[in-house]
Amino acid sequence: MDNNVRPETMERIVSSELAKAFIDEQVALLKEQIGDKKVLLALSGGVDSSVVAALLIKAIGKNLVCVHVNHGLLRKGEPEQVIEVFRNQMDANLIYVDAVDRFLDKLAGVADPEQKRKIIGEEFIRVFEEEAMKLDGIKFLAQGTIYPDILESVGVKAHHNVGGLPEKFGFELVEPVKLLYKDEVRVVGKELGLPDNMVYRQPFPGPGLGVRCVGAITRDRLEALRDADAIVREEIGALPEVPWQYFCAIPDVQSTGIKYVDGQGVRYMGWAVVIRAVNTVDAVTATVPEIPFKVLCSMRDKIVKIPGVNRVLWDISEKPVATIEWE
Ligand code: XMP
Repeated sequence: MDNNVRPETMERIVSSELAKAFIDEQVALLKEQIGDKKVLLALSGGVDSSVVAALLIKAIGKNLVCVHVNHGLLRKGEPEQVIEVFRNQMDANLIYVDAVDRFLDKLAGVADPEQKRKIIGEEFIRVFEEEAMKLDGIKFLAQGTIYPDILESVGVKAHHNVGGLPEKFGFELVEPVKLLYKDEVRVVGKELGLPDNMVYRQPFPGPGLGVRCVGAITRDRLEALRDADAIVREEIGALPEVPWQYFCAIPDVQSTGIKYVDGQGVRYMGWAVVIRAVNTVDAVTATVPEIPFKVLCSMRDKIVKIPGVNRVLWDISEKPVATIEWE
């Protein structure tokens, strides 16, 4: 039997009871597979890797070594949340790597989106590999592969997965949620006690804010983007119907602003922040949901207070013709 094929008899995990049964079964299997050996996991804080981490912590405790690489392109509060949830609350063995300067230095002056993705992907593997090399006794590499990743083997996850590492280090793979669909991973995550904003988080691309800070990334524009994104996540995330994905982009263009100094209008150059919200089933096509005008205005009023920003736009483009991301 191909263990990468979901058996037809496998029940869809839709309830807390089914999630509990899955967790008990997986914890027993993981204990058996791993014994007293050590497992390494790249923990991004996304739902898939977080659920894998929580399962392994339950099964083998400190013999799981989680590595969280902060590449500087994460959303506001994300690295802090990974540390809080996994190190402080779950008492996990967590290595936090501050690689912000390393990534931003490599990306300086690079404007081509595919080149940016390539640099981020390769640098991630390099940083992770360096951490792996410092550790002794690792036998296994855990990954948050889920069933859609297997079905679309050239899926977007390629950017996350630490390809090549298993062969290079002779690691055996541990993929406890590889037969689950996304909604099932969320039910399991909830049952494992992960916080709602981790379990129900919107999709976030591997290259993170890197593909939303359009063109060559600069630190100041990236910080403005991170602040604007936090405002949009809070306001749109509180709507009665939350869209599938909602975020900001910050194009590399100059926008003229005006401020009044002693009653005198002074023009100055700043940035324009773009608000984007989309609904989709499969990310192949996407529509734009209605956002109440007062919510748009409330976001605008907060975003224009961010240093350097003097304009706010709402992107109403559908996919096609536009892609969801700006790059
Ligand atoms: P586009 O922009 O192609 O995006 O309409 C479709 C979905 O894929 C996500 N996306 C990515 N995810 N690495 C990822 O892991 C990437 O390089 C990447 N580019 C786009 C995007 O956020 C949307 O959900």
